Amino acid sequence: MDTITFPKRFLWGGATSSHQIEGGNFNNDWWAFEQVPGHIIDGKISGDACDHYHRFREDFALLKGLNHNAHRLSLEWSRIEPAKGYFSAAAIEHYIEVIKELKRLKITPIVTLHHFSTPLWMAREGGWLNPACIDRFAIFTKAVASALGKDVRLWMTINEPMVYAFFAYITGEHAPGVKSPLKGFRVARNMLLAHARAYHAIKEIDPTAQVGFAKHMRVFEPYRQDNTWDAKIARNQDKAFNMDFIDALFTGESSGNIKVKPSEKELVKGNCDFIGLNYYARDSVKFSLLSPSTLFGKTVPPPPGMKTSHFDVGEYYPHGIYRLLSTISQYGVPLYVTENGVATVLDEKEKDDRYRREYMAAHIYEVGKALKDGMDIRGYLFWSSFDNFEWAEGYTMRFGMIHVDYETQKRTIKPSGKLFSEIAKTGVLSPAMLKKYGVAL
Ligand code: GAL
Repeated sequence: MDTITFPKRFLWGGATSSHQIEGGNFNNDWWAFEQVPGHIIDGKISGDACDHYHRFREDFALLKGLNHNAHRLSLEWSRIEPAKGYFSAAAIEHYIEVIKELKRLKITPIVTLHHFSTPLWMAREGGWLNPACIDRFAIFTKAVASALGKDVRLWMTINEPMVYAFFAYITGEHAPGVKSPLKGFRVARNMLLAHARAYHAIKEIDPTAQVGFAKHMRVFEPYRQDNTWDAKIARNQDKAFNMDFIDALFTGESSGNIKVKPSEKELVKGNCDFIGLNYYARDSVKFSLLSPSTLFGKTVPPPPGMKTSHFDVGEYYPHGIYRLLSTISQYGVPLYVTENGVATVLDEKEKDDRYRREYMAAHIYEVGKALKDGMDIRGYLFWSSFDNFEWAEGYTMRFGMIHVDYETQKRTIKPSGKLFSEIAKTGVLSPAMLKKYGVAL
């Protein structure tokens, strides 16, 4: 491996979301979903999570100590607008304080407006299936952009619309637990329009703000390289999951199952200042008649000998981040990696962190190569700053650079957090650093 040097102004940090770390978010659809036995793998509710709502100052001080100069967080809509049309001054004040604290520490805030959790009142009105959500999201956006606007330069409207539509409305594994592909695509379309409306709402308040969204992308690989069906399914999944939403957004026209009416073209087309790429792993895809909801493709554990990423699903494939950055470079807007990371399972701070270090270094290396090859990449946000509540997987997966003891709320920096800190400080990834942290690439 050769030494890679990053630009001086490159953003380095961690990514988080409100429901996964704040604790005490009992007024959203996730909280309701968690109460139903069988929904969360370990039967746990998000509960106090990392109690970050109360500990954000100490948490940010830790991140500052690790040389982060950026931080991705999401605003909890259900706190800010706890009842339809009622905005909580106290909650808005809280987030003003959060952003101020980041600014004080010279950490650039990257603010997401919707990261999977939806206020209960909106969920009761049909949530993201009800087209009224588009207006409601615009109203919410306007309120927070007016309150926080001057301190936030980078806004992300919606986190991973296709992942949301897929898990929340197609497989039903996420709140609200609906199982209908047709509804899933309606939700994705509503999210596209909601993104566009939020984009304009922010721009009206501050034309210089940069507004994008987070796009989760995966590499879909045919399980059997020489099998025509596997190859076809992998291509179809790539189009439906990776490309359709983003194509519809940049062209203002329907793409696959994401429908845009001609009258909506102007609202939608090209209204995205940057793309946040969330990348984790590669999927081995096998043709299966039993999987209609995933376009007749079944994700299977990668062939023997391949390294897995998310437990047994998804293959460790660092070059994937390069390939996907290259794919989305075609849209001609700046790119950020807004999530990238790996889960480990043990509650032992050091033991399983070696894999995280390797994963981190290998992916950052690929991002460095992409930069070197001329791609306009502005930052890298690791998922996640802290161990947290991993949705339907509850507390079984640990993604943090910082270990959280949920009993005591004690934070412990993992070796991966230290490796990241060195990279962020120097803007360099070198063989000597890897050696120091026991990583062999
Ligand atoms: C993403 C999601 C995050 C986090 C991560 C790890 O899809 O945006 O909230 O859960 O996956 O699985």
